[in-house]
Amino acid sequence: MRKPRRLSNDELAPWVVPVGSGQWEEKQTESESSPSQTAHCPLPTAPWPTLFGNANPVEIEVGMGKGLFLLNAALARPETNFFGIEIVRKYQLYAATRYAIRGLPNVKTACADAKGVLRDFVPPASVAAVHVYFPDPWWKARHKKRRVFTPEFAALAARVIVPRGRLYIASDVEEYFGVMTAIVDAMPAFAVRPEEENLAAPRTEAGFATNFERKALEGGGAVWRVVYSRTEVM
Ligand SMILES: C[S@@+](CC[C@H](N)C(=O)[O-])C[C@H]1O[C@@H](n2cnc3c(N)ncnc32)[C@H](O)[C@@H]1O
Repeated sequence: MRKPRRLSNDELAPWVVPVGSGQWEEKQTESESSPSQTAHCPLPTAPWPTLFGNANPVEIEVGMGKGLFLLNAALARPETNFFGIEIVRKYQLYAATRYAIRGLPNVKTACADAKGVLRDFVPPASVAAVHVYFPDPWWKARHKKRRVFTPEFAALAARVIVPRGRLYIASDVEEYFGVMTAIVDAMPAFAVRPEEENLAAPRTEAGFATNFERKALEGGGAVWRVVYSRTEVM
């Protein structure tokens, strides 16, 4: 993939939600896909209701990486707002540049820890969907506690998704997929939608929706995905 041309901070500003000062502990901000990168990612400062300047439904992607899913989803569904949360700044800026080049008005990004954002920034029952695609598996046993998708994370997703909203999960790691689905299956706040394809994820002609999905498929690997519906249980 060609690197998008570099844009100035001013040019990127409409796609980059400002965050306040403060620091996360290094272990919380590392990414397996970029382990040497650490970021200091406090919460966004812009008030949630004014983020997009309209009342359209909002969907969140946690860990959008280079941002392919949000790019295609935002192009395909202009009446929906998309908010990407990415802990590694260089990926956030890469993704934001893609949206800026196309002038997409319905995508914003924040460099932050998704758990903190879901807990302390996003209001309860305010988003139509949360997407979690190919979260870092943190293979080593002693690193597994760094995984983003934990019971606490699933509870935070349940907190922000509106009743009848959706939680989308995909992974190429069968064990992690099993852990994630076991967590969500045990929650009365979610009901699995076995009949539902992941229609929220527009695919390229080559058949992938995200960068990591492309890597998995090109490597001959399998991909597991599931869609949950938020129940009325609060
Ligand atoms: C394996 S990559 C997948 C990227 C993209 N979803 C895809 O499928 O191509 C996981 C991404 O999640 C980000 N990430 C990890 N922990 C995070 C957290 N706590 N909050 C936000 N993003 C996180 C990583 O920096 C990385 O970009």
